[in-house]
Amino acid sequence: MDIEEAILSRRSIRAFTEQPVSKEKIEKVLSISQRSPSGTNTQPWHAYVCTGKVRDAIVKDVCELFDSGQASSYAEYDYYPEKWNELHTSRRRKIGWDLYGLVGIQKGDRKRTALQARRNYCFFDAPVGIFFTTDAYLGKGSWSDVGLYMQTVMLAARGEGLHTCPQAAWITFQEPIFKHLNIPSTQVLVSGMALGYEDTSAVENTLVSVREELENVIHYSGFD
Ligand SMILES: Cc1cc2nc3c(=O)[nH]c(=O)nc-3n(C[C@H](O)[C@H](O)[C@H](O)COP(=O)(O)O)c2cc1C
Repeated sequence: MDIEEAILSRRSIRAFTEQPVSKEKIEKVLSISQRSPSGTNTQPWHAYVCTGKVRDAIVKDVCELFDSGQASSYAEYDYYPEKWNELHTSRRRKIGWDLYGLVGIQKGDRKRTALQARRNYCFFDAPVGIFFTTDAYLGKGSWSDVGLYMQTVMLAARGEGLHTCPQAAWITFQEPIFKHLNIPSTQVLVSGMALGYEDTSAVENTLVSVREELENVIHYSGFD
């Protein structure tokens, strides 16, 4: 697969088949991804990959916490702002309503909205989950490096015929995840990610996210 196809075919997949992913394939993806760049080559990422019993135990514990409304606050890491501006709010709403529309969730249907959110916590049925962490003392630039790394993982996964969904949803459940994966408390969870094979029959995977017009975000100077 060439780079353009890898970029254009990457989408957030929210329904996976049960087909397992071999450890060799995952190792290849992560070995390629290790070439990801970082400021002053600090390589401030860790990737914790889980499948089988460990994956299932995390899913069980986190779903139980989610069901009892026990997500913890992630405010101390200010991953998302406390208050969004209108532009970002409108983009967030659009992707949310486009997804809910596809799966038939009406506005105000809190029960089904929660059930859709809960799908995050079973990795959308993907057999493999990856948790990305960085060292807690590091700053914004290192978080950005982890983001670059995650994108590299997602593109390398496409090269192996795999699909992904990056999942910030997990960050409110850092404690049980760290417990199951023996992650030291000097690290902080940046994001989760589902990895596996796309369920091509699932309606949620027909979601096409839109992008802003180029002229609103690309700013050229000095070309004429
Ligand atoms: C860091 C990050 C975290 C995300 N977290 C979630 C998540 O928790 N749940 C989810 O369903 N999608 C999540 N997404 C997927 C975004 O909604 C998606 O990337 C965006 O709508 C664009 O769609 P696309 O990935 O299909 O191009 C996340 C994406 C990124 C980059």
